[in-house]
Amino acid sequence: MLKQLLFGAMFTLVVFGGVQAQEKQKTTAIEKKVDELLSKMTLDEKIGQLNQYTSRWEMTGPAPAGSSEQEMLDQIKSGMVGSMLNVTGADATLKAQKLAVENTRLGIPMIFGYDVVHGYKTMFPIPLATASSWDASAAELSAHIAAVETAASGIHWTFAPMVDISRDARWGRVMEGAGEDPYLGSVMSAAQVRGFQGSDLILENTIAACAKHFAAYGFAEAGRDYNTVDISEYTLQNVVLPPFHAAVDAGVATLMNSFNVIGGVPSTSNPHLLRDMLKGAWGFDGFVVSDWNSIGELHNHGVAADLKEAAYLAIKAGSDMDMEGYAYIDHLKELVEEGRIDEALIDDATRRVLRIKYELGLFDDPYKYSKLDEEGLVLSEEHLAAAREVAKKSIVLLKNENHLLPLKKAGQKIAVIGDLADDKDSPLGSWRAQAVTGSAVSLLEGITNVITDNSAVVFERGPVFVSNTPAFQQHLQYNETDPSGIEAAVELAKKMDVVVMALGENCFQTGEGRSQTDISLKGYQQELLEAVYAVNKNVVVVLMNGRPLVIDWMAENVPAIVEAWQLGSEAGNAIADVLFGDYNPAGKLPMSFPRSVGQCPIYYNHFSTGRADDTGTVFWSHYTDESNEPLFPFGYGLSYTSFDYSDLQLSANEISANQKLNVRVTVKNTGDVDGEEVVQLYVHDLYGSIARPVKELKGYKKIFLKAGESQTVTFELDSDDLKFFTAWKVWEAEPGDFNLWVGTNSQTGLKGAFKLK
Ligand code: BGC
Repeated sequence: MLKQLLFGAMFTLVVFGGVQAQEKQKTTAIEKKVDELLSKMTLDEKIGQLNQYTSRWEMTGPAPAGSSEQEMLDQIKSGMVGSMLNVTGADATLKAQKLAVENTRLGIPMIFGYDVVHGYKTMFPIPLATASSWDASAAELSAHIAAVETAASGIHWTFAPMVDISRDARWGRVMEGAGEDPYLGSVMSAAQVRGFQGSDLILENTIAACAKHFAAYGFAEAGRDYNTVDISEYTLQNVVLPPFHAAVDAGVATLMNSFNVIGGVPSTSNPHLLRDMLKGAWGFDGFVVSDWNSIGELHNHGVAADLKEAAYLAIKAGSDMDMEGYAYIDHLKELVEEGRIDEALIDDATRRVLRIKYELGLFDDPYKYSKLDEEGLVLSEEHLAAAREVAKKSIVLLKNENHLLPLKKAGQKIAVIGDLADDKDSPLGSWRAQAVTGSAVSLLEGITNVITDNSAVVFERGPVFVSNTPAFQQHLQYNETDPSGIEAAVELAKKMDVVVMALGENCFQTGEGRSQTDISLKGYQQELLEAVYAVNKNVVVVLMNGRPLVIDWMAENVPAIVEAWQLGSEAGNAIADVLFGDYNPAGKLPMSFPRSVGQCPIYYNHFSTGRADDTGTVFWSHYTDESNEPLFPFGYGLSYTSFDYSDLQLSANEISANQKLNVRVTVKNTGDVDGEEVVQLYVHDLYGSIARPVKELKGYKKIFLKAGESQTVTFELDSDDLKFFTAWKVWEAEPGDFNLWVGTNSQTGLKGAFKLK
């Protein structure tokens, strides 16, 4: 036995050693090629590699001001464009690539980038939904399939994952991230990087990933997109940066700057972030792309008098590629010639870009992606089946009184009510890459697909929700003038056994540039809900939305609420799987739901404040008109079964820095159906050199238990898990007392305690 073990260990060492040696050889070979190429390049050609333009036919930002389409094509031919975004499809990418490769002196291929945030054509749930699965393999799978489809259409690089932590549901971009928690955010970040990039960028089913937006974009004041960020170094290090660090550790090829300032310093020109931390302490050797004209916007922030100064600040700070800013292409040469910047800075940035192009294999075959069989690979049955699986896992059951759910497939009269119920577009979400408009399975279709003959399903729209057909760049117009449809919905509800109501948000209500001060139900949805509920109490609300909403009335009155987010191509089928009990929901909220918008930002891992306890007077930290507690806390989510937690055991009362603490708990499925549970471990570091959060997620396990079954769940903690950025500006675990909870969400759990010596 011992011999076998030793042999096994040696075998692993030899194989692993072999893999490492191969990796090293590959890296050295690439570095050699990069150096050789760089030595042949003129300054103009190097600067060209740092210049990125959008195609003029699809734009994801304000219209470009820099050059006409013809000028852009001429620049590509003369080697002045190293990268393009928004060129999609095997044909278009092939044509554009030929322009660069066949006309330029050195034939350097362009790298094509695109926002593939939750799918290319097969749409997966929005990332906030996928994070609700607490299932890293689901996030990895959705990124992997997105990569397969993206690569098949000639694109080498996605501007994802978006790993911005946010505590404010007013910010429309919360739909793109993993919510409020740095631990869960880091798990999801690394999983997506693995999914997009696979084991090697050279493979044709992988693409380069881009962790964005570096950094702190999710802390925009009052949740208003592009607004000022003013957070401490403490919050930056302990809350904002961990998911970026996780992406870098997972080997992410690129990062993108954020638009915001932090403490007055724009992230795009922040040497502390880019040079000291990212490229210094973290050892990142990929490249940093600006956000859309974020170098140009240095002028608007008031730190650069003109575009030339903006170019100077950005390249000095460590921004390598200029997206749609025209700053580098217009001014870097001049800055070098004037001696204001050293050509070595340009060399470093160019080297980083070339390195990724080599890693992608673009020098071996610049057209290798564009040659793939796009049609055979995108929207395959296998991809749609995977989208349905991930979508099911992303659903969170928020309320289920008297076991109203699951519904019966036979012998029921079901009213389906709400404009979103037959909406085949909103489930695709706001960042939807090349999804075909209106291609999602609607909730109504999903329900109709599963009910059996002797059931009846009747649909009533109710009032129309939005009165224009929104496009990506347009403002929505909610219907606030025409309530017609409420009466018909009420008449239907009176006659039916149960009412399924689809309520929430249009897909273009969240996403970039879509911040709101009011995050309750828009249009006539609240009126519709109250009118229907008045005549039929058996209401199941299916929420379809891209952010936590204020749904206090609904939570108080309606017996069943299913949080279905925007679930992608297979949305309706996945929701029906849950509604009719083919799948027992197990999702947990990655963001707190506020009771009122006035509580925003609201998050579970807050500090205690000096006046946390209700003193019976007004002099404690509270609102006089609202509780401090969220409506639904972080980590919350129900199941069709119930779980009992017992017998929490810690292996020691005290551990030293190099010791492990084992935490054990027994979890029992006490209901009569099988189900999954996310067992969550939180700690509270009682006293620190700076204030510590009242709770912090430190681990979780998603387990499956048959009805009646028990399992002992174990966690291991050590001092590395307890490290934080201290008052002394180092990452350290400070000795002292800790509380610990293991439970079903961030508010409840069995409590233990230990000491770190
Ligand atoms: C967004 C980025 C996106 C870029 C390119 C910007 O406006 O902030 O997230 O990747 O546009 O579309």
